[in-house]
Amino acid sequence: MRGKRIGIVGVGNVGSSVAYSLAMSGSCHEIILRANNVDKARGKALDLSQAAQAARKHTVITVAETLEDVKDCDVVVITAGSPRLPGMSRDDLLIKNAQIMKNVMSVIKISSPEAVIIPVSNPLDAMVYVALKETGWDRSRVIGMAGILDSARMAHFVYEKLGYGAGQIRCSVMGGHGDDMVPLPRFSTVAGVPLTDLLTWEDINEIIEKTKRGGAEIVELLKDGSAYYAPAKATALMVEAVLTDMKQIYPCAVMLDGEYGYTDVVSGVPVMIGASGVEKVIEANLNDDQDRKFATSVGSVKGLIDTLYKNNFYN
Ligand code: 2OP
Repeated sequence: MRGKRIGIVGVGNVGSSVAYSLAMSGSCHEIILRANNVDKARGKALDLSQAAQAARKHTVITVAETLEDVKDCDVVVITAGSPRLPGMSRDDLLIKNAQIMKNVMSVIKISSPEAVIIPVSNPLDAMVYVALKETGWDRSRVIGMAGILDSARMAHFVYEKLGYGAGQIRCSVMGGHGDDMVPLPRFSTVAGVPLTDLLTWEDINEIIEKTKRGGAEIVELLKDGSAYYAPAKATALMVEAVLTDMKQIYPCAVMLDGEYGYTDVVSGVPVMIGASGVEKVIEANLNDDQDRKFATSVGSVKGLIDTLYKNNFYN
């Protein structure tokens, strides 16, 4: 049996941090890096390989000269695309990054025909949609990274407010990875204690707003790009769930097929991830308020998808 092979398309801050996280956990045998700037990929591969040796891990990091060389991967992570800069919303990247995703997937669907794809580029939910349309694959094999990141951000802000419980906080965020994401305090706990028993609604509402602005806050501070450590760790967790057939429940961006009352739209919902990708879409019981907010978020993603159609992306 050959070892597990991961492709990473795009080796900016997010892509290379995903590779670093995977190399340090030693959860795969080979990581193939692909970037338009091949020398940059070569430099990253050398640096990462040496880090793996330092950590006494067996993971080998190689470079794909072309997208066609991202071959026979078990999982391919797509981080290629323009990053978000100060003053930009994730949606501002739509057409440019959709074209990049379409081009990349037109090759990957042939070079790695059995892979599970994890899009990370923004606007995330629309990128998952583009990847699915381009490949024509089953929705179980294209899983967008965002819910783990947004939930981790919420957990961070809960810790900031409480001042205790770091590492014991489980937060839940559903909906699109955009300004209308839906943090769910009713589904969030600290060591099993409901958040709503620990904090006032005033505090909780502040946490919700900070979570929604979590990415923008980092963009404003960095000034030349967006967050990468937390997005990369979230992505690595998804890769590892596939590689080890972990059957973990994570919030991820998937095509809905009747769940929560929606079809032909991508949104963040809890899913079970195993060897074949999304093996189950979990339908949580939303109350009226949560339902309304989820509808708004789904509506925003639908708007992006409509824009793609209006720009003749798909006919
Ligand atoms: C983030 O939320 C850019 O989507 C990325 O940090």
